[in-house]
Amino acid sequence: MYSEIVPHTATADEIAARNPAGIVLSGGPSSVYEEGAPELDPGILQLGVPVLGICYGFQAMAKQLGGEVAHTGRREYGSTPVEVSQAGSLLEGVPVDQTVWMSHGDSVAKAPDGFQVLASSAATPVAAFASDERKLYGVQWHPEVKHSPYGQAVIENFLHRAAGLPGDWNSGSVIAEQVERIRAQIGDARVICGLSGGVDSAVAAALVQRAVGDQLTCVFVDHGLLRKDEARQVQEDYVAATGVRLVTIDAEDRFLDALAGVSDPEQKRKIIGREFIRTFEDAAEALVLEAKAEGGSSIKFLVQGTLYPDVVESGGGTGTANIKSHHNVGGLPEDLTFELVEPLRTLFKDEVRAIGRELGLPEVIVARQPFPGPGLGIRIVGEVTRDRLDLLREADAIVREELTAAGLDSEIWQCPVVLLADVRSVGVQGDGRTYGHPIVLRPVSSEDAMTADWTRLPYDLLARVSNRITNEVAGVNRVVLDVTSKPPGTIEWE
Ligand code: XMP
Repeated sequence: MYSEIVPHTATADEIAARNPAGIVLSGGPSSVYEEGAPELDPGILQLGVPVLGICYGFQAMAKQLGGEVAHTGRREYGSTPVEVSQAGSLLEGVPVDQTVWMSHGDSVAKAPDGFQVLASSAATPVAAFASDERKLYGVQWHPEVKHSPYGQAVIENFLHRAAGLPGDWNSGSVIAEQVERIRAQIGDARVICGLSGGVDSAVAAALVQRAVGDQLTCVFVDHGLLRKDEARQVQEDYVAATGVRLVTIDAEDRFLDALAGVSDPEQKRKIIGREFIRTFEDAAEALVLEAKAEGGSSIKFLVQGTLYPDVVESGGGTGTANIKSHHNVGGLPEDLTFELVEPLRTLFKDEVRAIGRELGLPEVIVARQPFPGPGLGIRIVGEVTRDRLDLLREADAIVREELTAAGLDSEIWQCPVVLLADVRSVGVQGDGRTYGHPIVLRPVSSEDAMTADWTRLPYDLLARVSNRITNEVAGVNRVVLDVTSKPPGTIEWE
């Protein structure tokens, strides 16, 4: 299904203008009785559009429709048994007794008039309600989290049964629609795209390539801070799969020279960002001149792999702190004169991966973990040098290989491997004393990188990784595991 996120302050008119086929009211941390608690324009529930309220959204709906929300003092948090008394269209096909994920203090004590109560829990007499006539539905629990095993079925029931919507928005239809749009936007002009080695720019470029073929030229700035094999995968595998014209700029020396003697993480990020922009600008200028010399159409457009969460986040918010300056090496100067092409603007990461697969991109690129723009530059605590990069690349490759072999790629969000280049510890190997560096493993599980927990990897896997790194990577004599959640730790060490 195609969806957009809007703030709770959106008015009924603003919502109606978007012509939604269904509305989901999300959960939130407030109590409906708190001062300043998010409220809903009452007109939204009168639009005749099917609505599903979740947790706080369920309570806000109940309150507005004349039901009763009570401060019972009985909190439910975590896995909670509920009993379905009447399935209706919303709970059709889910077991009568099931466990769901709850997180609430207030409870709906009485459903609004004309609503059927569908389920209850020990502390919550009204845990789900429905009015098929008005197409309004709600559940107290969180169907969207994986700890509610039948949650996905509830959401599908709402969309397909209650709201009667077909599930016809899929990778095939997105590709067809985007190809049309891109053709209309670009016409016969030329377009360039900076490839970072990551999933987003790879898929964005492949879509544009599908739409306008050789009007597209990709630029890959190899800053020498990528992981083992990644540059080759872009230059060979990606090009073979897409047939795109790729210009690679080997800028390793330029980046390493600029980083010489620098250990401060923020300064490293700034240097890498600056060098990236300069290198990309030089390459773009050369391509503009080339197009002029050929006398064909000029380069008017630049492709960016902006995703929907980036769009939502840049919509602003208050009280945000600058924890790290994430410039993302795809970040480009503001004075570039190209018009942007952003074919992934309405998509989430999993959808982007699905489209990448449909377009035939190599799995090693499509399934890639999130990787920071400044690359291994911010995974070496200390100065970044070629030797240290080579050492870290070897250790990182071992970790990736073992995680994949253990079938754990889908369990973890990402696993930074960090070199503590300024730390040494004493070890013993063979008959001799060693004085080597520690490598830190930072496997994390997360939904969105905003919060994360350290992944409980099996001990025998950790033992294998430790053994292999200390045996195979010269200069490393100790492997340690980071067992900090985020917060308080960030995912990356720098
Ligand atoms: P932190 O370390 O802030 O990371 O918990 C959250 C996510 O962002 C990635 N990250 C970066 N990405 N430029 C990027 O493009 C950066 O400077 C940067 N720093 C962190 C990190 O890998 C994780 O996915």
